[in-house]
Amino acid sequence: CVLGIDLGTSAVKVSAVNRAGTVLAQESFSYPLNQPDPGYSEQNPNDWVMATTVAIVRLILDDHIDPTEIAGVSYSGQMHGLVLLDQENQVLRPAMLWNDTRTTAERSDIETQLGTEFVRITGNRPLEGFTLPKLLWVKKHEPDIFKQTAVVLTPKDYVRYRMTGKLGIDYSDATGTTMLDIHTNQWSQTICQQFGIPMRILPPLLQSIDRVGTITPEYAEFSGLTTATQVFAGGADNACGALGAGILQPGMGLLSIGTSGVLLRYEEQPTDRYHGQLQLEDHVVPDAYYSMGVTLAAGYSLSWFHRTFCSDLMFAQMLAGAATAPLGAKGLLFTPYIVGERTPHADADIRGSFIGMDATQDRGDFTRAVLEGITFSFRDCLAIYRAAGADLHRIVAIGGGAQSPLWLQMLADILHVPIQSLANEQGPGLGAAMLAAVGLGWYADCASCAQQFVHVGHQYEPLSDHMTKYDQLYALYQQVYPDTRKLS
Ligand code: XUL
Repeated sequence: CVLGIDLGTSAVKVSAVNRAGTVLAQESFSYPLNQPDPGYSEQNPNDWVMATTVAIVRLILDDHIDPTEIAGVSYSGQMHGLVLLDQENQVLRPAMLWNDTRTTAERSDIETQLGTEFVRITGNRPLEGFTLPKLLWVKKHEPDIFKQTAVVLTPKDYVRYRMTGKLGIDYSDATGTTMLDIHTNQWSQTICQQFGIPMRILPPLLQSIDRVGTITPEYAEFSGLTTATQVFAGGADNACGALGAGILQPGMGLLSIGTSGVLLRYEEQPTDRYHGQLQLEDHVVPDAYYSMGVTLAAGYSLSWFHRTFCSDLMFAQMLAGAATAPLGAKGLLFTPYIVGERTPHADADIRGSFIGMDATQDRGDFTRAVLEGITFSFRDCLAIYRAAGADLHRIVAIGGGAQSPLWLQMLADILHVPIQSLANEQGPGLGAAMLAAVGLGWYADCASCAQQFVHVGHQYEPLSDHMTKYDQLYALYQQVYPDTRKLS
């Protein structure tokens, strides 16, 4: 079998998957997210390694996965996080994550200094969450740490380093740093020179299916794995999610609802048709790309609501309340901007709101309003695709949010597109396992692996009376951002 290691924002999930694509066992282990100040979001890279190791140990001891049968390992990782290592490859400071938005000043510096040239090189306009503005923040606020920096990695690269002793980054995560030239797939000299980033601190570039090495004797002893297990580079979580959902052709899209929410489209070329309004990244499949709009707080809005207002209920009970609430939540409207927003507003300062509170509403209505508000934010992303004339006729939903039939139907109704779920959906971890399966040569390429591994489940068709009602509510939703912006 192979292991797919899915390093998320709230937890790591490790899946053991056999050659036929059947998940044999799965273990997950969570770690804290530290948000000491508004806008700050950090994790300790050693927590990722410990949690991954616990999950692997449990797979071996509790689920009886024989370590000598584990032929390969690969990774899916939360994107954009900044991990800094010194000369001895020791971690220099807590990792700053994708949803850390303290970097507004650095972001606008990048915009002022390079403007459209930045968009042309990287395929992206500068946004707070990307790795480059974080590195510039450290350069300015923690110059000693910047001086000691010998290597910059994204999160899963650090876990891979601890398991293999090898440093590197794959193209799908390298595009997310916004220091890669997306046209040449080389680190951009222009960007590094302009912002004083020494190119020697940027790691070697890899394809996601590249073999990086094997498990070190130290990590084998620590985890129970064997040194014969081969390790493959892996990729960004959204790219791995797309691979694991079979998003390998134009016109195909993915909705990934985890802590963040992503509406993503497969692209054959590094297109400029979205003018930087959507992110553009390398896929984990060689010579392919994807564009995406990102809602910073999708599942995070729901877990915040649960933690803050419904901690006496199980999560499933809270969602059951939403299922009995009427469409439109009795006039209650939620905007999910609780940590700022990326697409379409690119505004780290905006904050969320509940509008239209009424004494007859209960927690079920509030939960439903949260689900609807997050889904309206996906419609904002879809509107950019529609305006650019980009075809998106098939959307597959994955992630925690895709486990809820209520939410899947709501997605179809609000987006006006049929939404497919996957049978036995595993999220980005399946994509990670597929990278190991292809890397090992079990399959000739990602497409043939997807034919074996990916199985479509149910299709949710948009319901016309729901569509009409939601269209009216969406028009109201669109007004909230410009009006509440003045309050932040
Ligand atoms: C994408 C993004 C998030 C993270 C979540 O740009 O920032 O979706 O990848 O892990």
